[in-house]
Amino acid sequence: MFYILALFFFTPIYNPMAKITYITHDNKNYEINVEKGLTVMEGAVQNDIPGIDADCGGGMACATCHVYVKEDWLDKLPKKEDGEDDMLDMAFEPKQNSRLSCQLIVSDDLDGLVVNIPFKQG
Ligand code: FES
Repeated sequence: MFYILALFFFTPIYNPMAKITYITHDNKNYEINVEKGLTVMEGAVQNDIPGIDADCGGGMACATCHVYVKEDWLDKLPKKEDGEDDMLDMAFEPKQNSRLSCQLIVSDDLDGLVVNIPFKQG
């Protein structure tokens, strides 16, 4: 009995979700619990966040999932691939902190991530 109780109390509780905050161009905040393994773009689309259309469905071919990542998160994200940089060059007003949200896979590491949606996508 002791072992069963110990297992119950000392087993970490797995949380399958991570909180992602999407901020629209008109400063509306959407704090969404997104299932780990989905992309930041998929979290937005599934929750009808305005401004992330994802026209290519995550194929890195449209840049309609462009977001600005809060600066303090930049070092925590996976590095951009060449294709992402090329697509961001065609996005509206790309900045140093621009990312394609379809390339950001939600994980424990991204719990608390904050992204801003560009004005043009609003
Ligand atoms: S959904 Fe098209 S580039 Fe991300």
